[in-house]
Order: sequence, then C-alpha cells, then structure tokens
Amino acid sequence: MALFGKKTKESEISEIMLPAHVGIIMDGNGRWAKKRGLPRKAGHTEGARTFRKIARYASEVGIRYLTVYAFSTENWRRPEDEVGALMKLFKSYLEEAIRDFKDDDIVVRFIGDKSGFSPELQELMDENEECSKDRDGMVLNIAMNYGSRDEIVRAVRNITADVQSGKIGADAISEQLISDYLYTAGQPDPDLIIRPSGEYRISNFMLWQSAYTEFVIMNKLWPDFQKSDFDEALKIYSQRNRRYGGV
Ligand code: FPP
Repeated sequence: MALFGKKTKESEISEIMLPAHVGIIMDGNGRWAKKRGLPRKAGHTEGARTFRKIARYASEVGIRYLTVYAFSTENWRRPEDEVGALMKLFKSYLEEAIRDFKDDDIVVRFIGDKSGFSPELQELMDENEECSKDRDGMVLNIAMNYGSRDEIVRAVRNITADVQSGKIGADAISEQLISDYLYTAGQPDPDLIIRPSGEYRISNFMLWQSAYTEFVIMNKLWPDFQKSDFDEALKIYSQRNRRYGGV
C-alpha cells in the first residue's frame, strides 16, 4: 500500500510515494565505538538514541509500520559483557518507552522469541505491548531474539499442530496461510529495508516477508544515521520501479 507523505517542518518528504512498511537493520554500532576508541557497548547506547529519534521521525512522516532489528537469535554468541550491556540497555529503554512513545501514538510490538529473555524483560515487553495496543498510530515492531529461520520453523510447527488437530486441512496451506503464522501476521510485507553501515547482507531478517522488498544500503554507521538519511532512503525508494516479477 502506498501513502502520501506528511509534510513536517524538518522533512522535505512531502507528496512522495511512501512505503507502508519499512524495516531497518540497525548496524554499525560496534564500528562506531571502535573508531572512537570506545567499548562496543558505547556504540549500542548511541544506537539506542538513534533508534528513538528515527522511530519517532518515521511516525511523523507517515510510515504505518516500522520494524527494527534490535537483537538476533545469533547475537547471544557475542561476548558476555556485550550481551549484558545490551540487556541493560533494553531494560532502561523499555522502562522509558512506555511513556515516550505515548505522545507519538505509537503501537509497540515485539517480534521474536521473548522466552529467551529474563522474566523482568519479558514483563516489560508485555507491559509495552499492553499499554500501547489501543493507539492508532504507527506500529513499531521491535525484533528481539528474532531470527527469520527460527520464525519459519515456529510457523511450520504451529501449522503442523493445527493440521494434526484438524483445525485446518493440509490443502489450506498457502502462501497467505504461512504469512498468517509469522510474527508479522496481519501486517503488510516490508516495502523497503534500509541497512546502514555499508553491509550487503540480509542477516536472517524477514526472509519470507522480503520476497519483493526494495533494499537501500547506506554508507553510514547506525549511530550516525540522521533524519535526513531516512529521507534519502525514502526518496531512493520512491524512484524505484517495483515490478513484483512482472514487466
Ligand atoms: C548491530 O551492530 C547492532 C546490534 C546487534 C544491536 C542493535 C541494538 C540497538 C541499536 C539498541 C537499541 C535498541 C533498543 C530496542 C533499545 P553491530 O554491533 O553488529 O555493529 P558492527 O557491525 O559495527 O560490529
């Protein structure tokens, strides 16, 4: 679905075809810190600031769905102190997010396997979802302990269970049904995925959903990412000719 952009004071984005759903792989925090001789966790702290700024901005310009990749199923392999610092950051962020996104009318949702997190973090995630669920602004999916292959395995298991119990017939399995068993059920597929930091990888992010997504790779580390970079990505997107396999 394409919408027209809202005119904001800061944005040049007005009257261009906006993507309904944008995904962002927030990459480059570690390199940003290294360049400054700082520990990697300092990059994540700065990355969290950028995240908050860009999420609010996306909602302001009229994006309907924003999905950010905050922690993958593979990120547990990082050094213990880095994982610990990220968990601390998530906790403090989630405590603040409950009130922060209220003014922006943002609906907060988590995609991924919550059960991997501490009970305290799980509670904060539930609380954020519960208190924002009736808002009618942008839906913000925060992908935490998310891996797209893991999401597909989970969907296959749930479909199998529903076929075995007779809830659905095997012949009901279709592309749409598979989409309906993913964390993003009911949401449009991402139109645009932005990857800052110059890496050309999908990194296990929305593999099923991104079959026809437009990718924009930007040469900026995530903590340096500005609202003007988001505008730039939207402009590049608006100039693409989407054919979905047709001509
Ligand atoms: C990838 O950069 C980034 C992460 C694994 C963490 C992303 C997390 C945040 C931006 C924190 C904000 C999120 C919330 C929900 C508060 P990297 O560390 O792989 O960077 P590198 O490729 O330069 O090493």
